[in-house]
Amino acid sequence: MDPLLESALRVRENAFAPFSKFKVGAAVEDADGHIHTGCNVENATYGLTMCAERVAIFKAISEGVRKFRRVAVAADSASLTPPCGSCRQILWEFCGDVELTLINLAGDTATYRLSELFPKPFDASFLE
Ligand code: THU
Repeated sequence: MDPLLESALRVRENAFAPFSKFKVGAAVEDADGHIHTGCNVENATYGLTMCAERVAIFKAISEGVRKFRRVAVAADSASLTPPCGSCRQILWEFCGDVELTLINLAGDTATYRLSELFPKPFDASFLE
């Protein structure tokens, strides 16, 4: 299996999701081919919960990585789980129109460009 998808499935197991019980894993491949992973981390206030995608991106950013080429998101849902709106914004700002693959535990996959899921983004270009 594609190591990026494997990584997303594997890190999903680390999810801290005692409230929703909905575990999500994300993996991002940088321009050098390195993989950075994240899982969702929930909070008793609910609102402070952080999604898997943002954990993966922020971990990579904090390591100095700035260029990404692929993203994978893994969850246990028959209908493949796409990134939430907040994560689409963050993915757009850091990854641009990146390739995004969704996978579930049955091994079903779907691959998109982020622009298909997030067609009219606001980003830093508006601030220039
Ligand atoms: N979640 C993610 O981590 N990524 C997504 O793309 C969708 C939602 C998490 C947040 C929360 O911990 C749980 O899934 C239920 O919403």
